[in-house]
Amino acid sequence: MDVKKVAVIGGGTMGNGIAHVFAMSGIPVNLIETKQEFADRALSTIEKNLDRMVKKEKINEDKKNATLGSITVFLDVSEGVKDVDLVVEAVPENIDIKRSVWEKVDAAAPDHAILGSNTSSISITKLASMTGRPEKFIGMHFFNPVPVMKLVEIVRGLETDDETYKIVEETSKKLNKVPVPVNDAPGFVSNRVLMPMINEAIFCVGEGVATAENVDEVMKLGMAHPMGPLRLADFIGLDVCLDILNVLYEGFKDPKYRPAPLLVKMVDAGKLGNKTGEGFYNYD
Ligand SMILES: NC(=O)c1ccc[n+]([C@@H]2O[C@H](COP(=O)([O-])OP(=O)(O)OC[C@H]3O[C@@H](n4cnc5c(N)ncnc54)[C@H](O)[C@@H]3O)[C@@H](O)[C@H]2O)c1
Repeated sequence: MDVKKVAVIGGGTMGNGIAHVFAMSGIPVNLIETKQEFADRALSTIEKNLDRMVKKEKINEDKKNATLGSITVFLDVSEGVKDVDLVVEAVPENIDIKRSVWEKVDAAAPDHAILGSNTSSISITKLASMTGRPEKFIGMHFFNPVPVMKLVEIVRGLETDDETYKIVEETSKKLNKVPVPVNDAPGFVSNRVLMPMINEAIFCVGEGVATAENVDEVMKLGMAHPMGPLRLADFIGLDVCLDILNVLYEGFKDPKYRPAPLLVKMVDAGKLGNKTGEGFYNYD
């Protein structure tokens, strides 16, 4: 099956980027939000990002207009999914919100439609069980900022079938992304490897081994990381890092994933990184 139309549910940080890359690759998008103002915000972010691409001469004005023109806003999940081949859900990382969305999608999407979630930490197998078609359910884990980052972790749940995997792999390539298959496990591969490194960097700061700047310097200059782990943690959001570490800790029942006390304290203090203006660095 060729994916000819997609629904993207949620137009926040990830959803607007996902809608952007589908529309730019020529696949029309039904962008589903809860309120017109949120949809407008998503569209204006997409337009801003497309303008930047025009300025850099990566695309021309016609391509920009065609991309924007192929995104249609819906404020009702059932309406937005009824004529699509693939659904990509990017609503907040909250199991109750996701359950309510997936129950509506399952009731309204065509029988052949593939259901994909961009969750970064909830079990794909568990989300799949909220629908009557777990064999057509899969994780499509994009990375922020979506128009720039090449990777899509394609996460197979316990019952995801081979055909679903193949279609999602092919579709990801059409988006000019590199799909990497992984099986469903807490944190998949990306967060299972990344988060313990960030956590250990925070332990180093908390124990006074080095300052945040110096930990980042070591990882940038010594390991060729383009961004140090603490700068990256600020960018991701310290609350998100803590949530994912807790998922790993609960999922594996292994103390190696216990969150660093300094991380917990910073989240308690509301110092969440870029989004609050302060984390390991200041963002004025
Ligand atoms: N932010 C990241 O770096 C990142 C990276 C990879 C994966 N993810 C995952 O992507 C998902 C979305 O994260 P985000 O950072 O884009 O969140 P976000 O809060 O920026 O955006 C979520 C959007 O969903 C909308 N929404 C809420 N309920 C809805 C509903 N019932 N129907 C339609 N829209 C609804 C909200 O209005 C909001 O615009 C989460 O599962 C998260 O774990 C996030």
